[in-house]
Amino acid sequence: AIERTFSILKPDATRRNLTGAINAVFEKNGLSIVAQKRVQLTQAQAEGFYAVHKERSFFGELVSFMISGPVVLQVLQGENAMARNRELMGATDPKKADAGTIRAEFAESIEANSVHGSDSLENAKTEISYFFAETEIVA
Ligand code: CMP
Repeated sequence: AIERTFSILKPDATRRNLTGAINAVFEKNGLSIVAQKRVQLTQAQAEGFYAVHKERSFFGELVSFMISGPVVLQVLQGENAMARNRELMGATDPKKADAGTIRAEFAESIEANSVHGSDSLENAKTEISYFFAETEIVA
């Protein structure tokens, strides 16, 4: 089915001018960028977005990293968009990511891993609506 998923190009990607290279991977693989904005997240926004991880040991570092520079917030749309995006990203830890995936090719570390993508359709809905109004999504 045609789905929408939520994506973030993280501060390590914007810092190294990799947003076009990563978007090219999405677009070559059947994902259309139907909403996109470059923003500097506030601490409150980053903490709210990652609230499910707030008990994890890495939460503070994760939030600091996500506000260390601009990010690009995106809605990707296409056939099986959520699962397809996760295949294209590869494993969270770039050392474990399959060759050819975005994280294997571009990520610096498990924290500076270049991209975030929703891990379920339910979370995709929640994450999209955290950052985008329906009127900002143009398919
Ligand atoms: P993301 O998909 O954005 O969701 C949570 C993020 O926490 C994850 O990608 C990683 O970049 C980051 N992270 C940092 N340290 C760890 C860790 N030890 N285990 C899992 N995720 C981590």
